[in-house]
Amino acid sequence: MRSFIIAAIFAFFTLPAMAASGGVELDHVDIDITDQASLQRGAQTFVNYCLSCHSASFMRYNRMAKDLGLSDDQVKDNLMFASDKIGDTMTVAMRAEDAEKWFGVTPPDLSVIARARGTDWLYTYLRTFYLDDSRPMGTNNVAFKDVGMPHVLWEQQGYLAKDEHGELSVAQKGDMTPHQYDQMTYDLVNFLAYISEPSKLQRMALAKWVLLYLFIFFLVAYPLKKAFWKDVH
Ligand code: HEC
Repeated sequence: MRSFIIAAIFAFFTLPAMAASGGVELDHVDIDITDQASLQRGAQTFVNYCLSCHSASFMRYNRMAKDLGLSDDQVKDNLMFASDKIGDTMTVAMRAEDAEKWFGVTPPDLSVIARARGTDWLYTYLRTFYLDDSRPMGTNNVAFKDVGMPHVLWEQQGYLAKDEHGELSVAQKGDMTPHQYDQMTYDLVNFLAYISEPSKLQRMALAKWVLLYLFIFFLVAYPLKKAFWKDVH
């Protein structure tokens, strides 16, 4: 009976994760949104390789500048297209109708994708495009079966092939080693996690002070409580 209850509890908590991943085994990634250097590299990759199709319309450039430890000018020079203004949100130039025509689906806004899919899923997704002749783009994806998105980072990763056991192997080398590519996707997932919850950075900074406050409050409150209740039995 006891093992049944344990199994039931276990199933209850793992079920949502399984459902979200569609039964695919995901690679785990420990993100760190306080790592500014990583977020900066992730932002660079996002702007260069994702923003042409996907918007991040909850994110403003000037907010990103502040959180990533960059000046407005650094962001303007490196992370923005000429037509954007520093107070703008990260929108795409491509029209939704065109996207629909080219890909069959409109690329979704990625503002909160890290919360919707989870970081493990994103990390797996970005690293598991593989060659598949039956697909219009010539590639498929382990985490997202029959995805409409092409393998946009093929120059960096190269191409993977999948054998009949589902094992992936390198079919064509890219400019990066697998390790470098993992690092690049880590930074990108880190950035996607940050944009999905930018206020988390402030909360984390604030939490320190709240804990300190509670501790000091305790030092005052506890002797006070003892003094008040001293004569009550
Ligand atoms: C050439 C256009 C294009 C580019 C560039 C592109 N994508 Fe996509 N992406 C798509 C399309 C189209 C879909 C929708 C696929 C579908 O629903 O079948 C998609 C889907 C996704 C999804 C899955 C969304 C979901 O429904 O859960 C994620 C995550 C994603 N893209 C991330 C990225 C990232 C990160 C980059 C940059 C490295 C990127 N994409 C670059 C076209 C693009």
